[in-house]
Amino acid sequence: MKFTVAIDGPAAAGKGTVARAVAAEFGFAHLDTGLLYRAVGRRVLDGVPPETAASTLRHDDVLRGDLRTPEVSRAASEVAALPGVRQALVEYQREFAGRDGGAVLDGRDIGTVICPSAEAKLFVTASEVARAHRRWLELTAAGHDATEARVLEDIRNRDARDAGRRDAPMIAASDAVILDTSDLDVDEMSAFALAEVRTRLAGKQRA
Ligand code: CDP
Repeated sequence: MKFTVAIDGPAAAGKGTVARAVAAEFGFAHLDTGLLYRAVGRRVLDGVPPETAASTLRHDDVLRGDLRTPEVSRAASEVAALPGVRQALVEYQREFAGRDGGAVLDGRDIGTVICPSAEAKLFVTASEVARAHRRWLELTAAGHDATEARVLEDIRNRDARDAGRRDAPMIAASDAVILDTSDLDVDEMSAFALAEVRTRLAGKQRA
């Protein structure tokens, strides 16, 4: 059976956490589409032109261990504004979404552009301060030297660029369910998402 879950939202809102919980619960495959843009951004920092970096992206590029740094986050959001880069990544994402057995994709434009007919759509968000705090905890735990104020500034800049770009801007699909995780812990946000997906899945199985 084909069943696609689209999870979108701004930086560090909990998309990945929710997507992994859904994938584990229902046995769906999971694609973190941000990693594709991060891998392209990383290659651009290494000197490859953006469109070439996107059209020749290989599996190994996405497995690199250095894709979660603030420098790569910025580069990812810069290359993500280029229509040629986005276009080069569309087919791979749509194929992934259409696989048998169910798929969860998280990103910025999954419910709007990549899979407008996804069976379940969530837009995961949280206050800027909550998101900056979480990202700062992640970065410092990974050994990065970051201040919370700088992380907040980076997140603001990236959200503005992601929401303001002309091609596939970050926006909730009109039929997405909004999940504000500002005051939720991991179990609570996962439970909300699982309940939503379970309802949609039951609807599809009845149909
Ligand atoms: O983990 P975090 O939410 O901070 O970011 P990410 O999901 O890894 O995405 C990194 C960047 O890739 C974003 O800031 C976007 O500019 C871009 N992106 C996008 O444009 N479209 C997607 N479907 C996923 C990510």
